[in-house]
Amino acid sequence: MIKTNPICVALDTPELERAVSLAKLLLGHVGMMKIGMEFFYAHGFRGYEAVASTGIPIFLDMKLHDIPNTVAQGMKSLMALKPAITNIHATGGLDMMKAARQAVQGDTKLIAVTILTSLSNENIWAAGFDSRTTDGHALNLAKLTHEAGLDGVVCSPLDLAHIRNALPHQFLTVVPGIRPADAATHDQKRVATPKAAVKAGADILVIGRAITAAADPAQAAYDILQSLA
Ligand code: C5P
Repeated sequence: MIKTNPICVALDTPELERAVSLAKLLLGHVGMMKIGMEFFYAHGFRGYEAVASTGIPIFLDMKLHDIPNTVAQGMKSLMALKPAITNIHATGGLDMMKAARQAVQGDTKLIAVTILTSLSNENIWAAGFDSRTTDGHALNLAKLTHEAGLDGVVCSPLDLAHIRNALPHQFLTVVPGIRPADAATHDQKRVATPKAAVKAGADILVIGRAITAAADPAQAAYDILQSLA
């Protein structure tokens, strides 16, 4: 499904009814739906099942980041849900990523967040990263993710060129920070249009507010898909 429709809509809401009604509304207009901490912390497994029962593949965006044993055990608990994709932070390090890899079973793809799309150069330098820019650090973390045996990364559309050049074609790139040309960027800093992201090599486009906050979310998803043609 995701091969024909690369849109993964982020169901970022703490309300169960809104998530389920958005899921029903967008079924057939997107290839995947993302459940993240805002929804999962409020509704847990029951909320997840309510969305997943629509039949849509789910990206469970939990961004685990802790010591290797804790991440591996947490991941084992999440495996009961059998998501299509789930994730951890690459900055958790090689051992943490390898431990998570071993805990992920079945068809679930495990990917790692490189550098968040909300972070600028100044933000990562203030956090103690060395003087390379965000794309340099994202590339380094993508290589580490590949070395750990994971299936792919979450990265900014602006990091794609380097990552696509350096790693095998089948290494999955899941890309947030997507904004149609005239849309507000909100808290995102390193953004691109859907078309530019796909052109740069994005496999999956994670899109939240540009769809969910639109007056007609299904139309917004349709328009984004058309813009890729
Ligand atoms: O509304 P918007 O399109 O900015 O939503 C982007 C979604 O992608 C959010 O759910 C956010 O948590 C997620 N995400 C991100 N940047 C990352 C990883 C995930 O924006 N690096």
